[in-house]
Amino acid sequence: MNSALSWKIIANCSTTKARVGKLTLPHGPVDTPVFMPVGTQGTLKGLTPKQLEELNCQIMLNNTYHLGLRPGQELIEELGGSHEFQNWNRNLLTDSGGFQMVSLLKLARITEEGVEFQSPHDGSTMLLTPEHSMSLQNSIGADIIMQLDDVVSSLTTGPRVEEAMYRSIRWLDRCINSHRKPDTQNLFAIIQGGLNIDLRKKCIEEMVKRDTPGYAIGGLSGGEEKDTFWRIVTFSTDLLPKSKPIYCMGVGYAEDLVVCSALGVDMYDCVFPTRTARFGNALTSKGPLNLKSTKFAQDFEPIEKDCNCLTCKKYTRAYIHMHATRETVGCHLITLHNVSYQLRLMNSIRQAILKDEFPTFVQLFFKELFGGKD
Ligand code: GUN
Ligand code: ZN
Repeated sequence: MNSALSWKIIANCSTTKARVGKLTLPHGPVDTPVFMPVGTQGTLKGLTPKQLEELNCQIMLNNTYHLGLRPGQELIEELGGSHEFQNWNRNLLTDSGGFQMVSLLKLARITEEGVEFQSPHDGSTMLLTPEHSMSLQNSIGADIIMQLDDVVSSLTTGPRVEEAMYRSIRWLDRCINSHRKPDTQNLFAIIQGGLNIDLRKKCIEEMVKRDTPGYAIGGLSGGEEKDTFWRIVTFSTDLLPKSKPIYCMGVGYAEDLVVCSALGVDMYDCVFPTRTARFGNALTSKGPLNLKSTKFAQDFEPIEKDCNCLTCKKYTRAYIHMHATRETVGCHLITLHNVSYQLRLMNSIRQAILKDEFPTFVQLFFKELFGGKD
Protein backbone atom coordinates (compact mmCIF):
# COMPACT_ATOMS: atom_id res chain seq x y z
CA MET A 1 0.00 0.00 0.00
CA ASN A 2 1.01 3.69 -0.25
CA SER A 3 3.42 5.09 2.26
CA ALA A 4 4.50 8.56 3.30
CA LEU A 5 7.82 7.61 4.78
CA SER A 6 11.29 6.62 3.80
CA TRP A 7 13.29 4.19 5.88
CA LYS A 8 17.01 3.62 5.58
CA ILE A 9 19.15 1.33 7.69
CA ILE A 10 22.35 3.19 8.55
CA ALA A 11 24.16 0.48 10.53
CA ASN A 12 23.65 -3.11 11.66
CA CYS A 13 25.22 -4.54 14.81
CA SER A 14 27.55 -7.40 13.83
CA THR A 15 26.59 -9.51 16.87
CA THR A 16 22.92 -8.82 17.66
CA LYS A 17 19.91 -7.88 15.52
CA ALA A 18 20.20 -4.22 16.60
CA ARG A 19 20.20 -1.59 13.88
CA VAL A 20 20.31 2.16 13.49
CA GLY A 21 17.88 3.63 11.01
CA LYS A 22 16.76 6.93 9.62
CA LEU A 23 13.01 7.17 9.33
CA THR A 24 11.85 10.20 7.37
CA LEU A 25 8.25 11.21 7.99
CA PRO A 26 6.21 14.21 6.78
CA HIS A 27 7.29 16.26 9.83
CA GLY A 28 10.98 15.45 9.66
CA PRO A 29 13.54 12.77 10.44
CA VAL A 30 13.46 10.24 13.26
CA ASP A 31 16.63 8.46 14.33
CA THR A 32 15.94 4.89 15.39
CA PRO A 33 15.86 3.01 17.72
CA VAL A 34 13.55 5.68 19.15
CA PHE A 35 11.52 6.09 22.31
CA MET A 36 8.32 8.11 21.80
CA PRO A 37 6.97 9.91 24.88
CA VAL A 38 3.20 9.81 25.31
CA GLY A 39 1.12 12.99 25.34
CA THR A 40 -2.26 11.48 26.05
CA GLN A 41 -4.48 14.53 25.95
CA GLY A 42 -2.56 16.19 23.14
CA THR A 43 0.28 17.29 25.36
CA LEU A 44 2.67 15.53 27.69
CA LYS A 45 1.62 15.65 31.33
CA GLY A 46 4.13 18.03 32.90
CA LEU A 47 5.97 19.29 29.80
CA THR A 48 5.21 21.78 27.05
CA PRO A 49 5.76 20.90 23.37
CA LYS A 50 8.50 23.58 23.36
CA GLN A 51 10.39 21.80 26.15
CA LEU A 52 10.02 18.51 24.33
CA GLU A 53 11.50 20.14 21.23
CA GLU A 54 14.42 21.45 23.29
CA LEU A 55 15.11 17.86 24.39
CA ASN A 56 15.48 17.00 20.67
CA CYS A 57 12.45 14.76 20.74
CA GLN A 58 11.59 13.96 17.10
CA ILE A 59 8.27 12.17 17.56
CA MET A 60 5.60 11.91 20.25
CA LEU A 61 2.43 9.93 20.73
CA ASN A 62 -1.16 11.10 21.03
CA ASN A 63 -4.23 9.01 21.75
CA THR A 64 -7.14 9.00 19.33
CA TYR A 65 -9.52 8.01 22.08
CA HIS A 66 -8.72 11.04 24.24
CA LEU A 67 -8.56 13.58 21.41
CA GLY A 68 -11.74 12.17 19.89
CA LEU A 69 -13.61 12.88 23.11
CA ARG A 70 -11.98 16.20 23.80
CA PRO A 71 -11.60 18.57 21.95
CA GLY A 72 -13.50 16.26 19.56
CA GLN A 73 -13.29 15.58 15.85
CA GLU A 74 -14.98 18.71 14.55
CA LEU A 75 -12.80 21.10 16.50
CA ILE A 76 -9.60 19.18 15.65
CA GLU A 77 -10.57 19.24 11.98
CA GLU A 78 -11.35 22.96 12.13
CA LEU A 79 -7.99 23.67 13.76
CA GLY A 80 -6.20 21.73 11.03
CA GLY A 81 -5.18 18.71 13.09
CA SER A 82 -3.22 17.89 16.19
CA HIS A 83 0.11 19.41 15.07
CA GLU A 84 -1.57 22.81 14.88
CA PHE A 85 -3.66 22.27 18.00
CA GLN A 86 -0.57 21.55 20.11
CA ASN A 87 1.81 23.83 18.26
CA TRP A 88 4.04 20.81 17.65
CA ASN A 89 5.73 20.84 14.26
CA ARG A 90 7.54 17.56 14.59
CA ASN A 91 6.19 14.05 14.06
CA LEU A 92 3.19 12.57 15.78
CA LEU A 93 1.90 9.03 16.09
CA THR A 94 -1.65 8.23 17.17
CA ASP A 95 -2.76 4.96 18.67
CA SER A 96 -6.10 3.81 17.34
CA GLY A 97 -8.06 4.04 20.59
CA GLY A 98 -9.25 0.49 21.16
CA PHE A 99 -6.43 -0.45 23.48
CA GLN A 100 -7.00 2.62 25.66
CA MET A 101 -10.69 1.85 25.94
CA VAL A 102 -10.15 -1.77 26.82
CA SER A 103 -7.43 -0.96 29.34
CA LEU A 104 -9.11 2.10 30.86
CA LEU A 105 -12.75 1.18 30.77
CA LYS A 106 -13.83 -2.06 32.26
CA LEU A 107 -17.16 -1.65 30.47
CA ALA A 108 -15.80 -1.97 26.94
CA ARG A 109 -17.49 -4.70 24.88
CA ILE A 110 -15.97 -6.02 21.68
CA THR A 111 -18.01 -7.21 18.72
CA GLU A 112 -17.11 -7.79 15.07
CA GLU A 113 -18.33 -4.26 14.37
CA GLY A 114 -15.93 -2.58 16.82
CA VAL A 115 -15.32 -1.64 20.45
CA GLU A 116 -18.39 -0.50 22.33
CA PHE A 117 -17.95 1.60 25.46
CA GLN A 118 -19.66 4.06 27.77
CA SER A 119 -18.54 7.64 27.37
CA PRO A 120 -16.84 8.72 30.60
CA HIS A 121 -18.33 12.20 30.05
CA ASP A 122 -22.06 11.48 29.76
CA GLY A 123 -22.37 7.71 30.10
CA SER A 124 -23.82 7.29 26.60
CA THR A 125 -22.87 4.22 24.56
CA MET A 126 -20.29 4.83 21.86
CA LEU A 127 -18.97 2.47 19.21
CA LEU A 128 -15.43 2.75 17.90
CA THR A 129 -15.22 0.90 14.59
CA PRO A 130 -12.12 0.54 12.41
CA GLU A 131 -13.73 3.09 10.04
CA HIS A 132 -14.44 5.56 12.83
CA SER A 133 -10.92 5.21 14.26
CA MET A 134 -9.46 5.92 10.81
CA SER A 135 -11.72 8.91 10.32
CA LEU A 136 -10.65 10.33 13.69
CA GLN A 137 -6.99 9.64 12.98
CA ASN A 138 -7.30 11.23 9.54
CA SER A 139 -8.70 14.37 11.22
CA ILE A 140 -5.97 14.40 13.88
CA GLY A 141 -3.41 14.09 11.08
CA ALA A 142 -0.55 12.22 12.77
CA ASP A 143 2.38 11.09 10.62
CA ILE A 144 1.94 7.49 11.76
CA ILE A 145 -1.50 6.08 12.54
CA MET A 146 -2.34 2.68 13.98
CA GLN A 147 -4.95 0.17 12.90
CA LEU A 148 -7.80 -0.59 15.31
CA ASP A 149 -6.90 -3.97 16.79
CA ASP A 150 -8.64 -6.44 19.05
CA VAL A 151 -6.39 -6.51 22.10
CA VAL A 152 -6.58 -9.18 24.77
CA SER A 153 -4.44 -9.28 27.90
CA SER A 154 -1.19 -11.16 27.35
CA LEU A 155 -2.28 -13.44 30.20
CA THR A 156 -5.44 -14.56 28.34
CA THR A 157 -5.29 -18.07 26.87
CA GLY A 158 -7.65 -20.22 24.80
CA PRO A 159 -9.87 -19.48 21.77
CA ARG A 160 -10.29 -15.76 22.60
CA VAL A 161 -6.62 -15.14 21.66
CA GLU A 162 -7.14 -16.72 18.24
CA GLU A 163 -10.39 -14.85 17.70
CA ALA A 164 -8.72 -11.53 18.52
CA MET A 165 -5.82 -12.25 16.17
CA TYR A 166 -8.07 -13.09 13.18
CA ARG A 167 -10.34 -10.14 13.99
CA SER A 168 -7.30 -7.83 14.02
CA ILE A 169 -6.51 -8.98 10.47
CA ARG A 170 -10.10 -8.28 9.35
CA TRP A 171 -10.03 -4.90 11.08
CA LEU A 172 -6.71 -4.09 9.35
CA ASP A 173 -8.44 -4.62 5.99
CA ARG A 174 -11.27 -2.32 7.05
CA CYS A 175 -8.71 0.29 8.16
CA ILE A 176 -6.84 0.07 4.85
CA ASN A 177 -10.11 0.45 2.91
CA SER A 178 -11.26 3.50 4.88
CA HIS A 179 -7.89 5.33 5.13
CA ARG A 180 -8.38 8.64 3.31
CA LYS A 181 -4.83 10.02 3.50
CA PRO A 182 -2.30 7.30 2.65
CA ASP A 183 -0.11 9.89 0.92
CA THR A 184 0.48 11.88 4.10
CA GLN A 185 -0.23 9.42 6.92
CA ASN A 186 1.40 6.02 7.38
CA LEU A 187 -0.87 3.24 8.59
CA PHE A 188 0.90 0.57 10.67
CA ALA A 189 -0.49 -2.94 11.19
CA ILE A 190 -0.44 -4.41 14.71
CA ILE A 191 0.58 -8.03 15.16
CA GLN A 192 -1.51 -9.90 17.76
CA GLY A 193 -1.65 -13.56 18.77
CA GLY A 194 -0.87 -13.47 22.48
CA LEU A 195 1.97 -15.66 23.67
CA ASN A 196 1.26 -18.31 21.03
CA ILE A 197 4.04 -18.61 18.44
CA ASP A 198 1.79 -20.24 15.80
CA LEU A 199 -0.82 -17.48 16.07
CA ARG A 200 1.88 -14.79 15.89
CA LYS A 201 3.32 -16.48 12.77
CA LYS A 202 -0.06 -16.65 11.06
CA CYS A 203 -0.78 -13.01 11.93
CA ILE A 204 2.59 -11.83 10.61
CA GLU A 205 2.15 -13.79 7.34
CA GLU A 206 -1.25 -12.23 6.72
CA MET A 207 -0.30 -8.69 7.73
CA VAL A 208 2.94 -8.68 5.74
CA LYS A 209 0.81 -9.48 2.64
CA ARG A 210 -0.98 -6.14 3.25
CA ASP A 211 2.41 -4.43 2.88
CA THR A 212 1.81 -1.58 5.36
CA PRO A 213 4.61 1.04 5.76
CA GLY A 214 5.55 -0.39 9.19
CA TYR A 215 4.58 -3.11 11.66
CA ALA A 216 3.87 -3.00 15.37
CA ILE A 217 4.09 -5.85 17.85
CA GLY A 218 1.05 -5.53 20.11
CA GLY A 219 -0.48 -7.40 23.01
CA LEU A 220 2.71 -7.63 25.06
CA SER A 221 4.07 -6.03 28.23
CA GLY A 222 0.91 -6.98 30.10
CA GLY A 223 2.37 -8.94 33.00
CA GLU A 224 3.84 -11.94 31.16
CA GLU A 225 7.30 -13.30 32.11
CA LYS A 226 10.19 -11.31 30.62
CA ASP A 227 11.57 -14.46 29.06
CA THR A 228 8.29 -15.11 27.24
CA PHE A 229 8.02 -11.47 26.19
CA TRP A 230 11.52 -11.45 24.69
CA ARG A 231 10.90 -14.78 22.88
CA ILE A 232 7.79 -13.38 21.17
CA VAL A 233 9.66 -10.21 20.21
CA THR A 234 12.63 -12.03 18.69
CA PHE A 235 10.36 -14.52 16.91
CA SER A 236 8.45 -11.58 15.40
CA THR A 237 11.48 -9.56 14.29
CA ASP A 238 12.85 -12.72 12.61
CA LEU A 239 9.71 -13.05 10.49
CA LEU A 240 8.99 -9.39 9.75
CA PRO A 241 10.63 -7.79 6.69
CA LYS A 242 13.93 -6.05 7.51
CA SER A 243 12.97 -3.27 5.11
CA LYS A 244 10.24 -1.85 7.39
CA PRO A 245 10.38 -0.21 10.83
CA ILE A 246 9.24 -2.40 13.73
CA TYR A 247 7.45 -0.84 16.69
CA CYS A 248 6.99 -2.62 20.03
CA MET A 249 3.96 -1.06 21.71
CA GLY A 250 3.76 -0.15 25.39
CA VAL A 251 7.43 -0.80 26.16
CA GLY A 252 9.46 1.75 28.12
CA TYR A 253 11.53 0.20 30.92
CA ALA A 254 15.21 0.91 30.23
CA GLU A 255 16.19 -2.78 30.33
CA ASP A 256 13.45 -3.65 27.80
CA LEU A 257 14.56 -0.85 25.46
CA VAL A 258 18.11 -2.20 25.50
CA VAL A 259 17.13 -5.87 25.07
CA CYS A 260 14.43 -5.28 22.45
CA SER A 261 16.82 -3.09 20.44
CA ALA A 262 19.23 -6.04 20.44
CA LEU A 263 16.32 -8.12 19.11
CA GLY A 264 15.77 -5.74 16.19
CA VAL A 265 13.01 -3.38 17.40
CA ASP A 266 13.14 0.20 16.11
CA MET A 267 10.38 2.09 17.95
CA TYR A 268 8.84 2.17 21.45
CA ASP A 269 6.32 4.12 23.48
CA CYS A 270 5.20 4.00 27.09
CA VAL A 271 3.56 6.22 29.70
CA PHE A 272 5.97 4.81 32.31
CA PRO A 273 8.64 7.57 32.43
CA THR A 274 6.08 10.39 32.69
CA ARG A 275 3.68 8.51 34.97
CA THR A 276 6.37 7.37 37.39
CA ALA A 277 7.64 10.98 37.58
CA ARG A 278 4.28 11.97 39.02
CA PHE A 279 4.89 9.47 41.83
CA GLY A 280 8.25 11.13 42.56
CA ASN A 281 10.44 8.54 40.78
CA ALA A 282 13.48 9.78 38.87
CA LEU A 283 15.10 7.40 36.38
CA THR A 284 18.86 6.97 36.53
CA SER A 285 21.46 4.65 35.05
CA LYS A 286 21.63 2.98 38.49
CA GLY A 287 17.86 2.45 38.66
CA PRO A 288 15.01 4.71 39.83
CA LEU A 289 15.29 7.05 42.83
CA ASN A 290 12.18 7.85 44.82
CA LEU A 291 12.71 11.50 45.59
CA LYS A 292 9.88 11.49 48.09
CA SER A 293 12.12 9.53 50.44
CA THR A 294 13.50 11.59 53.32
CA LYS A 295 16.98 10.25 52.58
CA PHE A 296 17.20 12.92 49.86
CA ALA A 297 16.33 15.82 52.17
CA GLN A 298 20.02 16.75 52.58
CA ASP A 299 21.30 15.44 49.25
CA PHE A 300 22.71 18.37 47.29
CA GLU A 301 23.71 16.39 44.19
CA PRO A 302 21.73 16.57 40.95
CA ILE A 303 19.53 13.54 40.07
CA GLU A 304 22.33 12.41 37.74
CA LYS A 305 25.73 14.07 37.43
CA ASP A 306 26.19 13.45 33.73
CA CYS A 307 22.65 14.41 32.70
CA ASN A 308 22.49 17.70 30.86
CA CYS A 309 18.77 18.33 31.32
CA LEU A 310 17.69 21.60 32.90
CA THR A 311 16.58 19.83 36.08
CA CYS A 312 20.01 18.30 36.63
CA LYS A 313 21.87 21.48 35.66
CA LYS A 314 19.92 23.72 38.04
CA TYR A 315 18.38 21.73 40.89
CA THR A 316 19.49 19.37 43.63
CA ARG A 317 17.83 16.19 44.82
CA ALA A 318 17.10 18.00 48.10
CA TYR A 319 15.25 20.81 46.33
CA ILE A 320 13.19 18.38 44.25
CA HIS A 321 12.53 16.25 47.35
CA MET A 322 11.06 19.27 49.09
CA HIS A 323 8.61 19.73 46.24
CA ALA A 324 8.17 16.13 45.09
CA THR A 325 5.33 15.37 47.44
CA ARG A 326 3.30 18.54 47.16
CA GLU A 327 4.03 20.87 44.31
CA THR A 328 3.48 20.47 40.58
CA VAL A 329 6.95 21.94 40.08
CA GLY A 330 8.47 18.76 41.57
CA CYS A 331 6.51 16.61 39.14
CA HIS A 332 7.47 18.91 36.29
CA LEU A 333 11.21 18.78 37.09
CA ILE A 334 11.23 14.99 37.40
CA THR A 335 9.20 14.56 34.19
CA LEU A 336 11.69 16.72 32.32
CA HIS A 337 14.56 14.64 33.64
CA ASN A 338 12.84 11.29 32.94
CA VAL A 339 12.04 12.13 29.33
CA SER A 340 15.57 13.40 28.92
CA TYR A 341 16.87 10.14 30.44
CA GLN A 342 14.89 8.02 27.94
CA LEU A 343 16.05 10.08 24.95
CA ARG A 344 19.66 10.00 26.16
CA LEU A 345 19.47 6.22 26.62
CA MET A 346 18.22 5.79 23.05
CA ASN A 347 20.95 8.07 21.77
CA SER A 348 23.62 6.00 23.52
CA ILE A 349 22.09 2.81 22.11
CA ARG A 350 22.32 4.32 18.60
CA GLN A 351 25.90 5.53 19.13
CA ALA A 352 26.98 2.09 20.37
CA ILE A 353 25.43 0.38 17.33
CA LEU A 354 27.05 2.89 14.98
CA LYS A 355 30.47 2.15 16.49
CA ASP A 356 29.65 -1.58 16.44
CA GLU A 357 30.19 -1.68 20.20
CA PHE A 358 26.66 -2.59 21.17
CA PRO A 359 27.44 -5.86 23.07
CA THR A 360 29.92 -3.98 25.30
CA PHE A 361 27.33 -1.26 25.83
CA VAL A 362 24.74 -3.85 26.91
CA GLN A 363 27.19 -5.36 29.44
CA LEU A 364 28.06 -1.98 30.94
CA PHE A 365 24.42 -0.90 31.00
CA PHE A 366 23.34 -3.94 33.03
CA LYS A 367 26.38 -3.78 35.28
CA GLU A 368 25.55 -0.19 36.16
CA LEU A 369 21.79 -0.79 36.51
CA PHE A 370 22.14 -3.76 38.85
CA GLY A 371 25.52 -2.88 40.35
CA GLY A 372 24.10 -1.03 43.34
CA LYS A 373 22.76 2.43 44.02
CA ASP A 374 24.75 5.30 45.43
N1 GUN B 1 -0.42 -0.19 23.38
C1 GUN B 1 0.23 -1.18 24.05
N2 GUN B 1 -0.09 -2.39 23.53
C2 GUN B 1 -0.98 -2.16 22.52
C3 GUN B 1 -1.68 -3.02 21.60
O1 GUN B 1 -1.55 -4.25 21.60
N3 GUN B 1 -2.50 -2.40 20.70
C4 GUN B 1 -2.66 -1.03 20.67
N4 GUN B 1 -3.49 -0.52 19.76
N5 GUN B 1 -2.02 -0.22 21.51
C5 GUN B 1 -1.18 -0.77 22.43
ZN1 ZN C 1 18.45 15.23 34.27
